[in-house]
Amino acid sequence: MTDVMISPSILSADFAELGAEIQRIDTAGADMIHVDVMDGHFVPNLTFGPPVIEKLRPHSNKPFDVHLMIAPVDPYIDAFAKAGADILTVHPEAGPHLHRTLQAIRATGMKPGVALNPATPADIVDPVIEDVDMILVMSVNPGFGGQSFIESQLRKIEQLRAKIEACGKDIILEVDGGLNPETAPRAISAGVNAIVAGSAVFKGGPEHYAANIRALRPLVTA
Ligand code: DX5
Ligand code: ZN
Repeated sequence: MTDVMISPSILSADFAELGAEIQRIDTAGADMIHVDVMDGHFVPNLTFGPPVIEKLRPHSNKPFDVHLMIAPVDPYIDAFAKAGADILTVHPEAGPHLHRTLQAIRATGMKPGVALNPATPADIVDPVIEDVDMILVMSVNPGFGGQSFIESQLRKIEQLRAKIEACGKDIILEVDGGLNPETAPRAISAGVNAIVAGSAVFKGGPEHYAANIRALRPLVTA
């Protein structure tokens, strides 16, 4: 599989100049922009919400791949739609009714996604697989950038790839956490077609973004 999308996580960007950072990763070859929203309650860290996303939206035409690590989700869905999110991904544990939440996201015109924590089994997607456009496998515990890839998630990626093939729907299988030029090819071999990377994209500063993104893509052999 060579058509792998790279979705840099702006969690590792310079927050003092987020708009410029998004333009830089866009120009450097990002396929999507991964936006981590944290509430200090569902995960032990805080980032930003819809007003910031709305201001960032004009800085790129690439899809905003918004990963919600907040609970509850439902009261904020319309605000994320208005702010310009394209894909809105939620954790089942954010509760209380995953199916209702996915339907509510779809009703706004956004694409719904479901995110699985490292300890959340692949089977949780079975009852909702027809209702999602993305499955996000967390290969670290959510909350922080710069953590190490959890190996056991490769097997879960394989299981989810098989479920997606069986379902026959065009669902993005994305992996998030600890991706770098060593772990990304292994996740791709296991079946993902989208890679989130924060520290591996932003390391070294703006002049390295393009090479950093390229280093995460599969090598194309003649
Ligand atoms: C963690 C976030 C990730 C994070 C990844 O909760 O969901 O998107 O930014 O950071 P790296 O690529 O540094 O592991
Ligand atoms: Zn994320």
